[in-house]
Amino acid sequence: HYLGIDVGTSAVKTILVNERQATIAEADIGLQISRPQDLWSEQDPEAWWQAVQKALDQLLAKDAAALTDVRGIGLSGQMHGAVLLDAANRPLRPAILWNDGRSFQEAQELGTKHPGLSRTMGVIPMPGFTAPKLLWLARHEPGTFSAIRKVLLPKDYIRLQLTGDIMSEMSDAAGTWWLDEAKRDWSDEALAATGLTRDHMASLVEGSQASGTVRAAIARRWNLRSDVVVAGGAGDAAAGAVGLGAIQDGSVFVSLGTSGQLFVTTEIFSPAPEALVHSFCHALPGRWFQMAAMLNGAGSLAWAANLLQRDIGELLRDTEAAFCKPSDVLFLPYLAGERTPHNNPHARGVFFGLSPDTHQTDLVQAVLEGVAYSFADAKQALEQAGTPLAQAGIIGGGSRSRLWTRIFASVLNVPIMRYAGSDKGPAFGAARLARLAVTGEAPEDVCTAPAILETITPEPSLVERYEPRIQAFRSLYQSLRPEFM
Ligand code: XUL
Repeated sequence: HYLGIDVGTSAVKTILVNERQATIAEADIGLQISRPQDLWSEQDPEAWWQAVQKALDQLLAKDAAALTDVRGIGLSGQMHGAVLLDAANRPLRPAILWNDGRSFQEAQELGTKHPGLSRTMGVIPMPGFTAPKLLWLARHEPGTFSAIRKVLLPKDYIRLQLTGDIMSEMSDAAGTWWLDEAKRDWSDEALAATGLTRDHMASLVEGSQASGTVRAAIARRWNLRSDVVVAGGAGDAAAGAVGLGAIQDGSVFVSLGTSGQLFVTTEIFSPAPEALVHSFCHALPGRWFQMAAMLNGAGSLAWAANLLQRDIGELLRDTEAAFCKPSDVLFLPYLAGERTPHNNPHARGVFFGLSPDTHQTDLVQAVLEGVAYSFADAKQALEQAGTPLAQAGIIGGGSRSRLWTRIFASVLNVPIMRYAGSDKGPAFGAARLARLAVTGEAPEDVCTAPAILETITPEPSLVERYEPRIQAFRSLYQSLRPEFM
């Protein structure tokens, strides 16, 4: 068996699969975000570890024997987070997350002072990335900064607990803005730009390589064998790709988790920083990807449901029943600011076009459409990066909604495939990486595409009606831009 652990933003998700890649057991434990100040977004690394332990306890309770059969563990996680460790490998402060915008000034300075680095790092410096956060800490929390011995990514903190090793892998290191993406190695120049050296970094393996084995105490506590391998694993975007079998040049998918991504696998490193596309190392050796990264995916729907005090499933059913044409209400989904295509942490969510007739379902539909319109921008960014879109898969929690997928197909004007079990993408991908690390099988044999539930094609009448709405969405952002600061 293989165990995948995904340290997400809204939950830790675990999945146990057998040799036939069938799911044996799953356990999810929810997580909270803390936002102590405007633009800040933090989580305590200890909360991740507590959640992982609870999830493992649940798996043990469900099927103790199955854990004894585990040969490998794969880790996946939210990217870009800064976990700052002291000399005793303890967190010095809460981790600063991917959707934290506080280091916007430092990001801008890095770009101005080191214009040549953006191509090497695969993307311009943006505030969600790890590097600018370290410049921010040096300035605003110098005591913390000088005590930092290691900087880890979220899932690699869990690896430290499981194996005792300070290790990372390419696809997550890719999102720090310290990795030379073509060389698949840390960049001394980028590290120096933020006052750090290689000594502050984890050692790197490929996602499909072993990074270590579980500690004896961990093995005892969860009935694991003492030689269980922990694979490099991947950042959640690349792990999702592995779960979906998107490992060949040109395979494209939409990921609708808390955040959103439009992702395409590439067999060469093809940076397009001017399009605000992220060109990063994939989780498998000799492969890369291009990604438009949006900060507000299914998280926007969760936010709306919470505000309306309604169950998401119920809201979607009501909205689907009322759906007949694009909503008169526009929603800018920039609750957490936006990365592609705006690089603007100050952007905010907006409802526009409310009337006395606006119903709850209009607001919800506007949220679904607003997120889809932001993917029209993502599609445009990838086109600018030389990658036109012909079709796409969809994964993540949002992919469970048929209505949302229908809206995506007509907004993007491409067929979209829904898959069986695709909301478990990154954890499943991590389990596959564990298997590759243990067996050394060919990635093509293991990372196959899941069964397609259905392919949803664009509806010509909707495509036509969505076009002017996408234009209105874009011009609404441009009109409001001066207000976002
Ligand atoms: C990708 C990104 C997010 C995080 C959180 O660039 O910032 O998708 O990985 O899941």
